[in-house]
Amino acid sequence: MYVVVDGFFGDTGKGKITAYLALRDSPKLCVRTGAPNAGHTVVHNGVQHVLRSLPSCFVDPSAVLAVAPGALIRLDVFAAEAERYGRGRTKVDYNTGVIEDRHVEAERRDEHLMKTVGSTGQGVGAAMVDRVLRRLRLARDFEELKPYLADVPAMIRGLADGGVIVEGTQGTFLSLYHGTYPYVTSRDTTASGVASEAGIGPKDVDEVVLVFKSFVTRVGNGPLPGELPPEEAERRGWVERGAVTGRPRRAAPFNLELARRAVALNSPTQIAITKLDALFGDAAGKTRWEDLPADARRWVDQIEAELGRPVTLLGTGPEVGHVVDLRRAKGVI
Ligand code: IMP
Ligand code: MG
Repeated sequence: MYVVVDGFFGDTGKGKITAYLALRDSPKLCVRTGAPNAGHTVVHNGVQHVLRSLPSCFVDPSAVLAVAPGALIRLDVFAAEAERYGRGRTKVDYNTGVIEDRHVEAERRDEHLMKTVGSTGQGVGAAMVDRVLRRLRLARDFEELKPYLADVPAMIRGLADGGVIVEGTQGTFLSLYHGTYPYVTSRDTTASGVASEAGIGPKDVDEVVLVFKSFVTRVGNGPLPGELPPEEAERRGWVERGAVTGRPRRAAPFNLELARRAVALNSPTQIAITKLDALFGDAAGKTRWEDLPADARRWVDQIEAELGRPVTLLGTGPEVGHVVDLRRAKGVI
């Protein structure tokens, strides 16, 4: 059982890494946590997909795609994704929360959330409030969700032997508990929170993959150590835009101190680093360690030594297949 989580502020490429693992390992079941404020981007066969409800494992046509009990969906976004990516293989837990229009409206009227925190305005926090106050309607309350309803934690236990991937959302430092409060999202985004949302006890998780990017980005407000002026980020080719909001992302160099703290908070068994090609242009599209430029290999080795965990997956380009997979070489599988 794999749990994939983000070690910075979101947008490190969890979607891409999850999709890669799905293509390589052919899991029986993939589970998405979180909510539609998070867009996970997957580029497969030249087409870019942004998923807000279903797991990025859709690239493997045989995987069952499930939404965790602790997750939240919007009916329209869920239905569109189930139709496009998960026909005949989509499940939603009875207890998955449902965001309604009034949650989106309440959030967008809230100056603290929209102006100070810089919320994506997707109604997630407002729906979480209702959930805590025990008045949120859940998936089981909606007639149109009947065909999809399942006991997802039971499915996970039943299929654990065939491989299960649980996909986290957002990032460690956007965690409600461990992030830069109040500039955070409305859930715990660390590995323990993700396992809890899916209904998995901590001892049933075999592998925690902690995903970093070769530089740090953040959308919305809150501290970003080492933040570069926008012109400098542009010069380095580090300008990205939010997958859901289209807002430009703020950028900073890779931050070892944050990475160390993320390791402490998530206890990863493996580390992935994406966008290696953004730091080392000659790494672009490479899939073998030997083909990476020497300075890129040195940089990765140094991070591995500093963090004390094996760096097993390296992203070298936007496509799902643009990955150097060192799991076997490093004895992880
Ligand atoms: P909210 O969770 O939509 O209320 O947003 C709260 C904060 O988390 C804001 O700074 C958002 O920009 C940030 N945030 C929420 N979801 C994501 C995500 O998927 N990627 C990056 N930042 C996010
Ligand atoms: Mg994203």
